[in-house]
Amino acid sequence: MNLGLVPQPRSIAARPGGVVWESPLRISVEDDWREIVETFAVDLSASIGWRVEIVDEQAKPDIQILRVLEYRDEDYQIRTGECTTIEASSRAGASYALTMLRQMAPVALWSNTLRELEKIELPRFVINDGPKFRWRGVHLDVARHFWDVATVCRLIDQLAAHRLNKLHLHLNDDQGWRVEIPTWPRLSEVGSRRRSSPLGHEVDGRDDNIAHGGSYSANDLAIIREHAVKRCVQIVPEIDLPGHAQAVIAAYAQLGNVSEPLEVWTRWGISDHVLNVGPEALDFAEEVVCYVASLFPDSPVHIGGDECPTTEWESSALARAVMDEHGFTEARQLQGLFTKRLTGALQRDHHEVIAWDEVLDADDSPGTVIMAWRSSRKGVEAARRGRDVIMAPMQFLYFDWLNSVDAGEPIALTLAPQATTWEKVYGFSIFPPGLEPDLRHHIRGAQAQLWSEYIATRDHLDYMAFPRISAFSEVAWGTSTMVSDFRKRLALHLERLSAMGVAYRPLDPA
Ligand code: ACM
Repeated sequence: MNLGLVPQPRSIAARPGGVVWESPLRISVEDDWREIVETFAVDLSASIGWRVEIVDEQAKPDIQILRVLEYRDEDYQIRTGECTTIEASSRAGASYALTMLRQMAPVALWSNTLRELEKIELPRFVINDGPKFRWRGVHLDVARHFWDVATVCRLIDQLAAHRLNKLHLHLNDDQGWRVEIPTWPRLSEVGSRRRSSPLGHEVDGRDDNIAHGGSYSANDLAIIREHAVKRCVQIVPEIDLPGHAQAVIAAYAQLGNVSEPLEVWTRWGISDHVLNVGPEALDFAEEVVCYVASLFPDSPVHIGGDECPTTEWESSALARAVMDEHGFTEARQLQGLFTKRLTGALQRDHHEVIAWDEVLDADDSPGTVIMAWRSSRKGVEAARRGRDVIMAPMQFLYFDWLNSVDAGEPIALTLAPQATTWEKVYGFSIFPPGLEPDLRHHIRGAQAQLWSEYIATRDHLDYMAFPRISAFSEVAWGTSTMVSDFRKRLALHLERLSAMGVAYRPLDPA
């Protein structure tokens, strides 16, 4: 039977008979995990108008949720029956089980407008499930285009529907700074607003002359974090330095390398304007990164480190003096000063540190988890250097690339024939080709990227994200099989996405 489960569970065994539920649905759960049932109750109330009652285990619940420590973190079992039993050792495992039950039920349970439903009929089955990879992430660029809190929370809901567990927020870039920092107020006052953006594709060289801006307050980020906690999604904040810093330098010229004033960048691409390597710039980097980290106390923190041109450092007397002081022979090594300083400070504050793979080219710090984006080979290189790795190669997992080579595709970062279809995503191997089997333990998982130079509206975000994220979720969960089998399940799953109001890219005829 095709139930359209995405990502499909590790194993599902049918049993004879069925189960019928009516409102109010009665669920028993221990106190620590009440919140996941309350979240499920909000979903059922909003979609089908049902009530959920949290009851005692002795009171014959429809669903009982049991904490059983033998399960691996995030694993769970469901046995549907007179009393449906969920077992898990973690809050996440129990939450995934409820999401799975919601997928087994009629599509109305995903509706973003009320659809009355008298009863839910489920088949009897036993599911044993759990992810193969512990990092199953999606990245959102809130710098090139700013996304309001509601849109970020909506994306969190979409990730949770696919049992994805990380949302990486790219909080600054040359074209905008997106977090209020009390001790550096001009970052949001000046750095969060650009005068204009490219019109059409960057290569056309035209401007729209329309101002764009926005930034999150600490309270906004707290709302996002709390929403994510409810959905068992962890927010991973990124402050990207010392490159991609033109918006910073527009706000605080003394942190840059040039004397002429700069504006927040109005073009896409990589600005040559980077932080200088003097003490104030290093102190600044540490202060803002640690402040942002403090807003996400339990999260790993991403320190960026990608695409940092050394042009300005090569002609800077200050940079030359710092190179001499450290005995560096190449300007590239200066970037390592930032990596070391930020990694040290964050690790002291008990944050794990993540960086883009370029930090391997400078003097990086042991313990930094590498996000391999330039190619899968970078993942192999990092693992061979003893680093843990999150696979994010652009050739498969950059969802700002064209969805297909069709001439009708909306403008995207790439130009045809460079495209990433959902079928290509589904064929992605998280273990990079050429990696020695005894280094596989370094591969934490994978992450899909939503860079937003060419994505400016919610509908377009949906179009670029789905169904590629659906395909990605099954790869990251570790249960992908034949693309033809997935396509059949995807066709049903798309009905859920429609019910959720997701403006996904329609499938091409088979
Ligand atoms: C990146 O795409 N510059 C990480």
